[in-house]
Amino acid sequence: MHILVTGGAGFIGSHTLIELYKAGHTAVVVDNLCNSNPLALQRVAEIIGVPAIPFHKVDIRDRAGLERVFAGHKFDACIHFAGLKAVGESVEKPWEYYENNIGGTLTLVDVMRRHGCKNIIFSSSATVYGDPDEIPITEQCPKGQCTNPYGWTKSMLEQVLMDTQKADPEWNVVLLRYFNPVGAHPSGRIGENPKGIPNNLMPYITQVAVGKRAELGVFGDDYPTPDGTGVRDYIHVVDLATAHVCALQAIVRRCGIGIYNIGTGHGYSVLDMVKAFVRVNGVEVPYSIKPRRVGDIATCYCNPAKAMAELGWEARHDIDDMVRDSWNWQRQNPEGY
Ligand code: NAD
Ligand code: WQD
Repeated sequence: MHILVTGGAGFIGSHTLIELYKAGHTAVVVDNLCNSNPLALQRVAEIIGVPAIPFHKVDIRDRAGLERVFAGHKFDACIHFAGLKAVGESVEKPWEYYENNIGGTLTLVDVMRRHGCKNIIFSSSATVYGDPDEIPITEQCPKGQCTNPYGWTKSMLEQVLMDTQKADPEWNVVLLRYFNPVGAHPSGRIGENPKGIPNNLMPYITQVAVGKRAELGVFGDDYPTPDGTGVRDYIHVVDLATAHVCALQAIVRRCGIGIYNIGTGHGYSVLDMVKAFVRVNGVEVPYSIKPRRVGDIATCYCNPAKAMAELGWEARHDIDDMVRDSWNWQRQNPEGY
């Protein structure tokens, strides 16, 4: 299939490009590079063994820019990663998050339908469950109250896309609710490249290990979890990437609306991750316990059985792979791209 990948220069998008090409698909990337570096696409091309990945530096809010891209291609589907994703920043700048994520997606969907491309795979998030009613989380678990504007953009966009499909059944909408992506391509050539101080656990750990930051702050050790620290469903980004390739099959089968949790189904605590990182990589990660971070929940992991049953997808990488590949990327690229 010929796929439009929005946000393809980013962390998850760049890894997904590799898996798409490996599976015989072709892709065109649209990205405004607001949180990414074109070097990622160059390295993806090297890994795949093609001269270049077709790329348009276009903002998805730019209708005329998108029209120009669509004029040159007949896309079978769009994998839509483009969006702002920093939870804390979204609290400071809610308008910017709603305008970019929701405004951008509305423009994208309109241009898609005008060009007869009515298949979309959307990057949703475990955050739409809020503080979940049940663990492990299944797709039947009701959506909850999001604790920040970023989360609301995901929740609202799920609704926008489902309503779009209901009104026009020619659409196929796959909502992939990612849990906590970590890791990097095993080559160490591409990986997560946060700007400034990392918000997420794994890039913080790798920056401490590489000497960029003095110590990790562990946000709370008094949660009702086995060791008191927060438990999450970390998933290797290469597994997450293959989930998108598998999700294309749902589109081929004309799924209508498909909603899938994309996680491993295993919960690991903050200290489990730190200890695995130290054990596998043989590096020190100094840490100290800090107060809880506002908005965090104790435990979040999923039941990924639906993705296995309907998409034939399952995670293949374990915690050791995740910490090894995260470190492999960071130590080869101490300053990122
Ligand atoms: P990322 O920031 O690395 O990638 C997003 C890409 O979108 C970037 O390259 C950025 O430049 C681009 N972009 C943003 N706004 C744009 C716009 N208006 N027009 C064009 N390009 C634009 O983030 P990621 O971690 O690869 O996440 C990809 C998607 O997955 C996002 O939608 C994110 O919200 C979602 N998601 C991420 C996580 C996570 O923890 N990384 C978890 C759940 C869901
Ligand atoms: C994981 C655990 C922290 C940093 C976020 C978004 C979610 C999704 C994934 C996009 C928690 C602890 C963290 C640190 C720590 N993104 N932690 N010290 O909060 O589960 O999810 O990213 O959709 O929407 O909210 O991920 O990596 O920030 O935190 O102790 O310096 O690590 O308290 O228990 P989170 P995270």
